[in-house]
This record gives sequence, C-alpha cells and structure tokens, in this order.
Amino acid sequence: MAGDAILTVRGLVKRFAGLLATDNVDLDLRAGEIHALIGPNGAGKSTLIAQICGTLRPDAGSVRLRGESIDAMDAAARAARGIGRTFQIVRLIDDATVTQNLLVALHVRNGRIWQIFDGPGSRADLSREAAERLAAARLDGIAKARVADLSHGYRKQLELVIARAMKPAVLLLDEPMAGLGQAESTEMIRTLSALRAEVPMLLVEHDMDAVFNLADRISVLVYGRVIATGTVAEIRDNPEVRRAYLGEEDI
Ligand SMILES: Nc1ncnc2c1ncn2[C@@H]1O[C@H](COP(=O)(O)OP(=O)(O)O)[C@@H](O)[C@H]1O
Ligand SMILES: [Mg+2]
Repeated sequence: MAGDAILTVRGLVKRFAGLLATDNVDLDLRAGEIHALIGPNGAGKSTLIAQICGTLRPDAGSVRLRGESIDAMDAAARAARGIGRTFQIVRLIDDATVTQNLLVALHVRNGRIWQIFDGPGSRADLSREAAERLAAARLDGIAKARVADLSHGYRKQLELVIARAMKPAVLLLDEPMAGLGQAESTEMIRTLSALRAEVPMLLVEHDMDAVFNLADRISVLVYGRVIATGTVAEIRDNPEVRRAYLGEEDI
C-alpha cells in the first residue's frame, strides 16, 4: 500500500484573536514518504503540528489516521493511536540517564508503568530492547550519561530514538536540525533518510539542504495557507513559492 495516505488533514482552520494561523489546510502524508512542511517564520507550521498532535484544538476541519477520525481524541489518545512527534524544544528528563529516559518511554508504550513480574514485556525485556535501540542508533556509548550532560546533537538523536520506540504510525518532526552543527546535521539526515522505510514523516525544517536532501514532497505554508505542494523540482520552480521566499531563504 505504498503511497496510500496514512494521515489526512482536511479543511483545518485555527484563529488566534484576529490572526488566521491555519487557513483551510489540506495535507496528506503518504506511506513511505518524507513530506517536508516549509514556510517563513510565523507561517503556522508549529500550530499545524500541534493540531495534528491534539495539543491545540482547531476551529474547523478534520484529521484522520488511516481513514479514521482522531478529532475527538486528546493528545495522549492520539499518541497511543500512533501520532508520534519530536518537539522543537526537546523534552527529556534531565536528571535521568539516557537509558532511563528511553525506559520511561518503553514503559509508557506498553502501558504498564509498574510492571513487576517477569514475562513478555518484563523489565528485563525492556532493558534489553533499550540497549538494542541505543546500539542501533550508535548511542550505546552514552547510555549511562545524564541527559543534562549531553550535547544538543545527542539530545536530538535521543529524542528521535524515543519517538521511534513508541512505534508510531506517523512521525511529526518540528525542526530536527535546529541548532545542530554540520557533522550532526549530516548524521541526522542519514538517520531520517534510513527511517523513511519504517515510518512516514512530516518534517518541519528551515535547513533547505536537509529538506532538498530528504523530502519526497514539499508543502509550502505562507500565512497559514498551503500555497503549493509538490516534488522538490516542482517547488523549486514554482514562481509563487519563490516570491514568498524572496529575501527569506535562498532556494
Ligand atoms: N497560542 C498562540 N496565541 C496567539 N498567537 C499564536 C499562538 N501560537 C502561535 N501564534 C501565532 O500564530 C502564527 C503562527 O505561529 P507558528 O505556528 O509558531 O509559526 P511557525 O512555526 O511557522 O514559525 C504566528 O503569528 C504566531 O505568533
Ligand atoms: Mg515553529
């Protein structure tokens, strides 16, 4: 079912006082794709992500996951249903270790915080899974480090490992490259590219190199409105997009 829409946004509207932050947005996230969402600062990208996650209520419109409406669900229910996300501002437990942070996520995923007895999903199983996930992400060397002591790049990597561990149906990424150095960005691009086969991603990103590298499709948001959706080539050549970005980004 490659190419089918996993996430469907239709007619989404959000007003803040006099400001139309989301202006009748339609958006599809298809199986197997990285769909980049770009646009100038204040265009409404984070607001759109928040409405998909359920942390912000739209004034109108609908969001469907695999054809099922999730409009009535709160953020926790949507996360449990498969809406995964990473935050523009990383939210980790600073005083805990890398492994402990990941274990919290695994326990939440399994819905049993107070698992005591052995058996499938036991603490030993989850510890093993945590170790495997950290090794796969090449973070095993920092497994015992306190999160407070990590570099920004490692925090971003850990955040992604945690988001993946929740086994989401879709992943919403709000500026995963923000604040990363050149080498860290390259590493993140490689990680996200490999992740495409595992989970479709809606990628909000200002780093145009990353966007052009990664995106199967791009949607351009300006003043809350999607002014264009298309392939990298189509978006690069779109005159309205070029006008909207004049003086903003060199694309
Ligand atoms: N909670 C809020 N209350 C009022 N205005 C908001 C709120 N959140 C965002 N906005 C406004 O909505 C617009 C879109 O913001 P945002 O979604 O953060 O843009 P982006 O992520 O594209 O930079 C901006 O003008 C911003 O100031
Ligand atoms: Mg934002």
